[in-house]
Amino acid sequence: MDFLSKINKDTTPEHIAIIMDGNGRWAQKQGHDRLFGHNFGVESVREVLKAAQTVNVKYLTLYAFSTENWNRPQEEVDGLMNLLVSTIGNEVDELDKSNVVIRGIGNIEGLPATCKEELKAAFERTKSNTGVHLILALNYSARWELTEASKKIAQEVAQGNIQLDAVNDELVSSMLTTAEIPDPELLIRTSGELRISNFLLWQIAYAELYFTEVLWPDFKKEDLYEAILHYQSRERRFGMVSEQIEKNL
Ligand code: FPP
Repeated sequence: MDFLSKINKDTTPEHIAIIMDGNGRWAQKQGHDRLFGHNFGVESVREVLKAAQTVNVKYLTLYAFSTENWNRPQEEVDGLMNLLVSTIGNEVDELDKSNVVIRGIGNIEGLPATCKEELKAAFERTKSNTGVHLILALNYSARWELTEASKKIAQEVAQGNIQLDAVNDELVSSMLTTAEIPDPELLIRTSGELRISNFLLWQIAYAELYFTEVLWPDFKKEDLYEAILHYQSRERRFGMVSEQIEKNL
């Protein structure tokens, strides 16, 4: 199916967030260990980034490692960290050349030293680029992020820097690791699971949710275009009624 030609590039979501799920099952179905699936998952990351560039998506956020993922078998955790370091190391030249800004959200300081260093070097090197922002959610969870933001706000209020009445949506947003990044309009989860798994809970308040049975290593360009087409077929009402949207009120 040629989904790309049907996409209206004027209404492409500015920000797409993806829960990349199903690497383990994909590998196990083929008699391999889970890391085999994560390795193949990197190819899908490459493809989806290119597809996002093609349709002018400005921000692509990928849930690569959650705060809960530390509970996986040590071998898998180590393998994922090594994969991250080697992937960033191998891809940074190409990403920089194609004008990608590499960013991270989550508790980056809590990552192993080699991982942190590789990431910070990539953030620094690409920060002045003007193309798509590839945002890696690493050691991330929404509850962690909201707890940290609450602590910062409480501290500012206690020190008299912020009045209690000044605490509003905008202020909370500015205290999150996604400060200055627009909220995603579209959230995709692969592998048939119908959960949000502690991902961007604040930011997806009005996001359209798209769930697909496709496992992440099988998720390719056309799958992203199909998800965008679904998004474009929906009416986003933001609490209003259809008539108001139609009249552009
Ligand atoms: C979920 O599948 C996937 C992960 C926890 C890791 C995703 C990471 C990658 C694709 C590598 C990313 C690398 C970069 C550079 C962004 P799962 O293991 O939970 O699958 P399962 O549900 O089938 O077990």
